[in-house]
Amino acid sequence: MAFTVSNFLKCKNNSEKITMLTAYDYSTAKLFNDEKIDAILVGDSLGMVCLGYEDTLKVTMEDMIHHTKAVSRACDHTFVVGDMPFMSYQTSVYDAVVNAGRLVKEGGAQAIKLEGGALYCDHISAIVNAQIPVMGHIGLTPQSVNVFGGFKVQGKNEDNAKKLIEDAKKLEEAGAFAIVLECIPSQLAKIISESISIPTIGIGAGVYCDGQILVYQDMLNMYSNFKPKFVKTFSDVGHAIHEGVSSYIQEVKEGVFPGEEHSFSLKEETLKKLY
Ligand code: KIV
Ligand code: NA
Repeated sequence: MAFTVSNFLKCKNNSEKITMLTAYDYSTAKLFNDEKIDAILVGDSLGMVCLGYEDTLKVTMEDMIHHTKAVSRACDHTFVVGDMPFMSYQTSVYDAVVNAGRLVKEGGAQAIKLEGGALYCDHISAIVNAQIPVMGHIGLTPQSVNVFGGFKVQGKNEDNAKKLIEDAKKLEEAGAFAIVLECIPSQLAKIISESISIPTIGIGAGVYCDGQILVYQDMLNMYSNFKPKFVKTFSDVGHAIHEGVSSYIQEVKEGVFPGEEHSFSLKEETLKKLY
């Protein structure tokens, strides 16, 4: 049975953890879908891990739609969330609804995610009214990197922590079906998770969240530019790719690949006529 928006709440109520990863293309999404991961986020992190930018700010709606299309074609079990890129919703409630609609209509997403707390509640309500489920995202919100002055753990002092608890409650009121908590102390994530009825999905937010998400290139050791403390390498795919590519180069250079078993051949009598 496909994982739907109502399963998020069911999982929280049954104390079943929600599993999420990011994905940006068809073949990767298909592997995750076949593994029956609950949900995939087509994150604007694609700006960094797929497009090689230093942060997520240059990602466009066109980028997001392009990748969301590829992922949604692969998923018949997994729920697909499309991420709203920088300046696709900050500008107005109207822009937020129109661009959320594009991720669903053109991209095939089943829900959207956007960064920010109380400030964006009107945007979230309007999108929800347009019949599009919304996932919130608070804590370290990478689109605010220039305001934060870097990628830093959030919610460490009393005021900031209280603000995040308040933001989470406001997001629930605005109609969000889940909230990503990024890079906050695990005790704060626990308090937030206990003070709202919708599930929290943590990344660098400890074990008390109702679910977890990671950028897949991080957990498979495929992105070496930067490795945050909260990332665990679950499989060293980066190493496997290095080994595979290096063997390929060597075998091609030595004339070992392709072997006969990888080659097509002519019948003997046809071959004779060609000389
Ligand atoms: O873009 C992204 O990958 C995200 C997750 C890290 C939550 O927003
Ligand atoms: Na994101």
